[in-house]
Amino acid sequence: MTTSGSSTPDLKSAQKSKSKKDYSIYFQPPSLKEAKKRGKEEVTVHYNFSIPEDMEGIGRGKRYLVRTYGCQMNEHDSETISGILEQMGYAPAKDETEADIILFNTCAIRENAEDKVFGELGHMKRMKYNNPNLILGVCGCMSQEESVVNKILKSYQHVDLIFGTHNIHRLPHLLRDALFSKEMVVEVWSKEGDIIENMPKLREGSIKAWVNIMYGCDKFCTYCIVPYTRGKERSRRPDDVIAEVRELARQGFKEITLLGQNVNAYGKDFEDITYGFGDLLDDLRKIDIPRIRFTTSHPRDFDDHLIEVLAKGGNLVEQIHLPVQSGSTEVLKKMARKYSREHYLELVRKIKAAIPHAALTTDIIVGFPGETEEQFEETLSLVEEVGYDSAYTFIYSPREGTPAAVMEDNVPHEVKKQRLQRLMDLQNRISLEKNLALQGEVVELLVEGESKTNPDVLSGRTRTGKLVHFAGDKSLIGQFVHVRITEAKTWTLHGEIVTKVGV
Ligand code: SAH
Ligand code: SF4
Ligand code: F3S
Repeated sequence: MTTSGSSTPDLKSAQKSKSKKDYSIYFQPPSLKEAKKRGKEEVTVHYNFSIPEDMEGIGRGKRYLVRTYGCQMNEHDSETISGILEQMGYAPAKDETEADIILFNTCAIRENAEDKVFGELGHMKRMKYNNPNLILGVCGCMSQEESVVNKILKSYQHVDLIFGTHNIHRLPHLLRDALFSKEMVVEVWSKEGDIIENMPKLREGSIKAWVNIMYGCDKFCTYCIVPYTRGKERSRRPDDVIAEVRELARQGFKEITLLGQNVNAYGKDFEDITYGFGDLLDDLRKIDIPRIRFTTSHPRDFDDHLIEVLAKGGNLVEQIHLPVQSGSTEVLKKMARKYSREHYLELVRKIKAAIPHAALTTDIIVGFPGETEEQFEETLSLVEEVGYDSAYTFIYSPREGTPAAVMEDNVPHEVKKQRLQRLMDLQNRISLEKNLALQGEVVELLVEGESKTNPDVLSGRTRTGKLVHFAGDKSLIGQFVHVRITEAKTWTLHGEIVTKVGV
């Protein structure tokens, strides 16, 4: 697709209602085909983000709302979007009725995620009718898909602005156009290799923080849309990551989570230095921040050096999210995961030997095209053998433009639903067993806040990421405490306070 977009029928019909001129400033729709390409261009790191002079203070007296639908990466992008809007003078809105700008930061990973966004975009029509000055924007992974942009152009013309995951830093420029031209502004970059370093971030809370260590994904698992929506793998320079973590420690944050679609591939794109994820963790563990987590690690690049560094413990907590997707080597092959059941189980053995108290969690897809009952049972047996503390389980959802979407699928949806239920039943049993084993034990918690359901109860997480509720004074929020586990359930634990930890 060219930037004019005039060759696609959907765009043509959309253009009927808006003059060509309306698109002359920013009309750059996405292309999955372009997004698939992986070039050899060098990654440029930019340190010169700033708000254009004429947009400084443009939001004074106005309010914004960012609604986030995706993964941690998306949540963190929303923090950047909020940071940029606040630098322009906007203040947060309590709800959509008082907002002057509403941005939907979307997720494309499964069909139901997309359906939800379209449903809510539909509801916004009335909002826009009541307040014609409202700016309604769509960003995030769905914006990177041409089918989505075509659908919005055609059926959701009350949207004012569409931008993608690679040009968040362009928000002030795009917003300027959306505000002053009052026509739909579309700018989505499909192929992008740059890193923008110094964008402002409005972090949610002051206890835990996300830190991006890399962007994009080059793995191209056959079911997955992410390599198309997030571009090629590119790592932030170690000095930039280390400086950000040091600054967060100085500000008093207690826990950071390093983010990447495949953190174990960190540094593989550096041409001038040999420095991988294990090296980064080895440097970060020396920083005075109490807890460091990371997500997500791909089993294929999980090397011995990384295990060795993780085994040093300290602020590197013993929780490892290691998505397996399937327990069948044949299915893994069709998924292009590039490891076998045996390789995965061997990796788990190594991790357990080096880090005995590690909690392992995972992601699993059931009902991949053509998955047989035997292959599904191999997933069940792997889950039993590994003994995960918890698992995110999904029914396979075809994503347009990915190889698996055109694979023959003879598994009825009803069977897929039954498999998901069988898998969840098994995992719930194992999660409960794991939690019951903690009864009577004393664990260290980082107190995160009041329990969502009962303000008299506080909630915190163990180093292994388990949620524990206990009665305690609110002054403990943000502190470390020792708690004895008194009751174990499938998803939560209850405890009583033993001591406050002097961290
Ligand atoms: N980068 C991470 C995964 C990010 S997406 C990794 O490789 O581990 C999070 C999870 O969504 C995946 O692990 C997978 O289990 C699930 N997922 C991705 N695409 C999917 C699809 N098309 N249908 C169903 N589940 C999917
Ligand atoms: Fe998707 Fe695979 Fe990349 Fe994870 S590693 S984001 S599942 S393509
Ligand atoms: Fe969704 Fe994009 Fe994250 S597709 S899971 S928001 S990377």
